[in-house]
Amino acid sequence: MAILPIIEAPDPLLRQISSPVDAVTDEVRALIADMFETMYDAPGIGLAAIQVGVPKRILVIDLQEPEEEGGEPIREPLVFINPEIVRSSDSLQPYTEGCLSVPDQYAEVERPDTIRARWLDLDGAQHDEEIGGMLAVVLQHEMDHLEGILFIDHLSRLKRDMILKKLAKARKLAA
Ligand code: NI
Repeated sequence: MAILPIIEAPDPLLRQISSPVDAVTDEVRALIADMFETMYDAPGIGLAAIQVGVPKRILVIDLQEPEEEGGEPIREPLVFINPEIVRSSDSLQPYTEGCLSVPDQYAEVERPDTIRARWLDLDGAQHDEEIGGMLAVVLQHEMDHLEGILFIDHLSRLKRDMILKKLAKARKLAA
């Protein structure tokens, strides 16, 4: 396993549209193991393969929610291969989102609060489930990455430019 470098905005690679996975091979599983290691190390709760430079339709998510307030986070790694949204609720829910490719920047995004999604898991088995809550937010955010879309694209141009400017400034200071 290895921690992979995470690509950050405005790298044009993040705009690439990812292609479907033909078969869930050992190579795919090795990439997924690296993606989990990279995500936990960051730390983050979701990562798309394109964020580590691989334009494949693969997502890893772990909400790492503690059982009780202030408790130790419990790991529950979830894998989504070739995910598709079959249906979205009409009702929208705002949530303050961040992204490992847009480090330390946060903004409120509205998304359907419930979705029905279809995907393959690590064993290549098909899932078709209704998803709500925090997982619905994160899954939709990560699925956007597969289309080359970042959460800042859901904001006004003014807000988006402000975040990109802050990002460039922070990078300059760090250099
Ligand atoms: Ni993201």
